[in-house]
Amino acid sequence: MINKTRPSPYLLLANISQLLTLHGENTPRRGRDLHEIGLIKDAAVLCGGGKILAAGSQRELLRDPWLRSNRRKVQEIDCEGNVVLPGLIDCHTHPVFAGPRLVDFEKRIGGADYEEIAAAGGGIRSSVAGVRGASRGELSKKVLAALNAMLEQGTSVVEAKSGYGLTLEDEIKSLEAIRDAARQWPGEVVPTLLAAHVVPQEYAGKADDYVKKVCDQMIPLVAKKKLAKYVDVFCDRGAFTQEQSEKVLAAARKHNLGTRAHVCQFTAAKLGPLLEHQPASFDHMDCVQPEDILLLARGETVAVLLPGANYFLGHKEFPDARRLIDAGAPVALATDYNPGTSPTPSMPFVLSLACTHMKMTPAEAIAATTINAACALQMQDRKGSLKTGKDADLAVFDVKDYREIAYWFAWDRCVEMVVAGRIVGLDT
Ligand code: NIG
Ligand code: FE
Repeated sequence: MINKTRPSPYLLLANISQLLTLHGENTPRRGRDLHEIGLIKDAAVLCGGGKILAAGSQRELLRDPWLRSNRRKVQEIDCEGNVVLPGLIDCHTHPVFAGPRLVDFEKRIGGADYEEIAAAGGGIRSSVAGVRGASRGELSKKVLAALNAMLEQGTSVVEAKSGYGLTLEDEIKSLEAIRDAARQWPGEVVPTLLAAHVVPQEYAGKADDYVKKVCDQMIPLVAKKKLAKYVDVFCDRGAFTQEQSEKVLAAARKHNLGTRAHVCQFTAAKLGPLLEHQPASFDHMDCVQPEDILLLARGETVAVLLPGANYFLGHKEFPDARRLIDAGAPVALATDYNPGTSPTPSMPFVLSLACTHMKMTPAEAIAATTINAACALQMQDRKGSLKTGKDADLAVFDVKDYREIAYWFAWDRCVEMVVAGRIVGLDT
């Protein structure tokens, strides 16, 4: 349960051992710059009107004349020597589903792989009946529970996809469930239509007809109802072809929606033609081709890596983060929270996986889950770093050194969240 406390116009976070400001331009960090997290020791942050007013050395901040004469008006959090950083941004999740997929889980333990499970009627399609049978209220409760679990672990912004309804009504219902949950959650939710997640059973052998329905009916209605900021498509073997994916992204642009795509999870896609549709992100990127990495290094599209899926599917290989980063491609990280491949709400666990399995440094992983994740959602002007004027979304972790956030895995060390300048009570 998250309790909103009474709003206070001014909030001071004091006695911070390490403050990670992620200072710098509001653009994605690339190459060596990904390591720059703007660490300030013995720091404090002053928030007002939901924004950051000042973030820096505590000694300097406490000398501020305005603060000295108005200290009594200011609510204070004693951070007791803990680490403070921008609220984490989970830029890729699928939270609208009715229940876990335990049959698939056990099949995989028995040796079946993702594609075999999908071919036998499991995978994405096995979550569809649950969503179609659930009411909007039931789904929104599940979404809110997931959002709260994310907040408990340091996340203040979440991108949330539909994609298990796969009819006009059920995709709308899923997006409405996201909107209903978002209204009850202190953080910010970015909704995405993922009707092109997989071809539903009733369209078996008629994938093009389904794509036409997505483009001609679902996207226009979702745009008209303002239920999504983005349209996503799963472009891979067993889902949608490159050509079909391009049609979906083109329809999104025609209706003034942003685009993003699941690509290269199991098989390589040609990213050049998809880039024509100006996607904010390409997500997964396990088998991206070297020539496409160079394209990303020259552009603004962010590569969102999802190591939770590799972990849960039991893959030995993880996305080649080092190659992408070292080539200058902008890289972000997210949970991919979903019932089939990554049932975790935990961004700190993703930070751990990025360090242990993808050889990212803790500093790089933190930049990839803050400023670069903000860029993946095109919110970098408001989110992802602690600059004066940006949204006052902050996470306090019970650690003395920021590297511990990625070090203590499966241990929730987030003790305090501030969202839009207000303390939100955590259950811990
Ligand atoms: O990102 N790759 C496609 N879709 C999701 C979820 C898949 C599922 O529900 O099984 C993913 O892994
Ligand atoms: Fe996904």
